[in-house]
Amino acid sequence: MKTIIPAILNDAKDKLVILDQTLLPEEEVFLELDKREDIWEAIKKLRVRGAPAIGISAAFGVYVCANNIETDDVAAFSKEVKAIKDYLATSRPTAVNLFWALDRMWDRLEKEVEAGSSVAEIKKAFLEESEEILREDQEMGLAIGKYGLELLKPGMGLLTHCNAGGLACSGIGTALAPMYAGDDAGYDFKIYADETRPLLQGARLTAYELYKAGLDVTVICDNMASIVMRQGKIDAVLVGTDRITANGDVINKIGTSGVAILAKEYGVPFYVLGPYSTIDLNTATGDDVEIELRDADEIGNGFGKRTALAEVKAYNPAFDITDHKYVTAIITEKGIVRPPYKENLAKLFQE
Ligand code: MRU
Repeated sequence: MKTIIPAILNDAKDKLVILDQTLLPEEEVFLELDKREDIWEAIKKLRVRGAPAIGISAAFGVYVCANNIETDDVAAFSKEVKAIKDYLATSRPTAVNLFWALDRMWDRLEKEVEAGSSVAEIKKAFLEESEEILREDQEMGLAIGKYGLELLKPGMGLLTHCNAGGLACSGIGTALAPMYAGDDAGYDFKIYADETRPLLQGARLTAYELYKAGLDVTVICDNMASIVMRQGKIDAVLVGTDRITANGDVINKIGTSGVAILAKEYGVPFYVLGPYSTIDLNTATGDDVEIELRDADEIGNGFGKRTALAEVKAYNPAFDITDHKYVTAIITEKGIVRPPYKENLAKLFQE
């Protein structure tokens, strides 16, 4: 496996160490964070982004912030941890992994309290739990890579949108995982990366990490997906996801649903790859999910370059909803799920 740039490092135990992705592709700068406001800001501003990486950062965030609480009183400590957890949960609304990871840390605290653990023991348990979440994420990427590769053939043209690679996770990612697995197996994929307006995760991040790993990647503007499909350059679309609802609707980066609709028109399979923790059976359909609305300036004044008059309004939803009818298969670390999604996703949780 080629070296993939990590979004999160786990080598400073008292700090959350993240790569500042807002500086890519020009600079690789790691930030060491241990204040809740800084961790919140890093998630909000997309210094760390991608559903799994947001969850992992929040988990380590709880640990490093809790580590700084100076009390031996378990009740007072728990109250403060709850405040940290609730605060970090307000950083971004759409990726379910954020809430999943925060709840998992809170469940661990409750178990420790029930077992009579001291504050020092709970702090230790928090480190264990966040390291376990990170480790599981790395294993998840390898499993998704293996299952995803079963759907692909050597020499295929693949299209991806946004960044669902190592930079969105702690391992080899989700949508990019089969690309890395295929590279190891000599599959020689031709990969197209939508640049992903307005924040350019495809151009700045996906193309960057694939290129650095030595894979064949070509950036296209979002509005070129139709012509590359029509020209027969794309054999499969692979995307990540921030949430999959009980009926199989997929919430992912703005622009994903348009790619899915095009794929259907051109007869190209549309695969969604994400961890089990991205499936939200408590939410019935995509329309029930809060879609993050971001600053209008990201459109009219992106990266400090004014491209629309300041006086002109801009609407900036960060995610969209791909109806399950466009999804050929959902690939998780537990295997490949096909329609009907309502039944088959529910079955995954019964196994
Ligand atoms: O706004 P972002 O960059 O956090 O959006 C990321 C995506 O939409 C990814 O496709 C998704 O989180 C899956 S990452 C494995």
